[in-house]
Amino acid sequence: MKKIGIIGCGRQAPKHIIGYLENGIKDIFLFDVIESRARELATEYNLQFKKIDDLVALPDIGIYSICTPPKTHDRLIETLINNNKHILCEKPLSLNLDNLFKFEHLSNEKGLTVMGGYIYKFSPSHIEMKEFIEANQNQVQSAYLRIASPGIKNAWQFSKNKGGGAINELFVHMLDLANWYFGQIDNIEEIDIQTYRPDRESMIDKNDLLAEDFITVKARNRSGVSITIEADMISNDFVQYVNISGPGLMGFCSIQPNLPLILRQSEKKYDICEYKEFKNLHTSQINYFLNCIDKITTHSQSTISESIDIYKFLHEATD
Ligand SMILES: NC(=O)c1ccc[n+]([C@@H]2O[C@H](COP(=O)([O-])OP(=O)(O)OC[C@H]3O[C@@H](n4cnc5c(N)ncnc54)[C@H](O)[C@@H]3O)[C@@H](O)[C@H]2O)c1
Repeated sequence: MKKIGIIGCGRQAPKHIIGYLENGIKDIFLFDVIESRARELATEYNLQFKKIDDLVALPDIGIYSICTPPKTHDRLIETLINNNKHILCEKPLSLNLDNLFKFEHLSNEKGLTVMGGYIYKFSPSHIEMKEFIEANQNQVQSAYLRIASPGIKNAWQFSKNKGGGAINELFVHMLDLANWYFGQIDNIEEIDIQTYRPDRESMIDKNDLLAEDFITVKARNRSGVSITIEADMISNDFVQYVNISGPGLMGFCSIQPNLPLILRQSEKKYDICEYKEFKNLHTSQINYFLNCIDKITTHSQSTISESIDIYKFLHEATD
């Protein structure tokens, strides 16, 4: 029976816990630098918690989820890979290109599955949209991908030094989706990065910098599709959607069950407008991750190589 370690017991951890439980795994051990958080979450879900110093001390825990802030990922990934553990790490996997190459090399050498938590690719609406795009490849001319959220109250989310900001928190999800839909996007035409909420400076340390809370990038993929991606942390509510268009076709989809999937194409008579039932995407993502570890599925989604592409795009966009 598989044993799982979950590192970081904040907002994201319960989603991973439920994902493993719904995949039939009950042996889950929780870790957090603030031990009381691990203890409280363990009590809530009837699980065990361990001291962070004992992170890799239990040899039969072979699989870990990393649910900690971005700047902490590298050290954790390195420790886990060195101890031959499989890893599902929340996005962004790493903010350091050299480390990404090192992790890719080491995990390949050791036959470990190291996967980024890019959950949108597991949304049934987004999967149908990908099929629609592929079926109408030559007609799609433009795409608009949007994600917006008010941000939470955790100060690191707004801190440059801790890896927060609209780019790392939100934009990377849409960039990952766009790369998945359209192949790697590397031709950046326009970019705008803003900080609309300077009041959040009071939440971060004095020697820290406030991260951006808005970004829009206009780019093209290698076949010339015009792709605009917009992300912000100033919205009053969460919103996410994708709109694609071209002569005689349009598509709209979202991760939100209150927004419809619309796929219309005159020639091929696509005429879909439907609301999808709520589905726990973490359960699907973790099922895929476990199947990759068991070699039931070849690991081709949210690989380290994809994180390297994401890093390179961001580096070009923000330098
Ligand atoms: N996939 C998604 O849709 C999605 C949504 C939200 C957040 N995230 C990602 O999940 C990660 C965690 O975000 P969150 O909102 O849950 O953060 P959070 O601040 O709510 O929780 C993080 C927890 O990690 C603990 N922690 C910090 N450093 C640690 C370390 N070195 N070792 C062990 N524990 C440590 C903290 O004490 C805290 O309890 C981030 O990478 C974030 O970008 C992903």
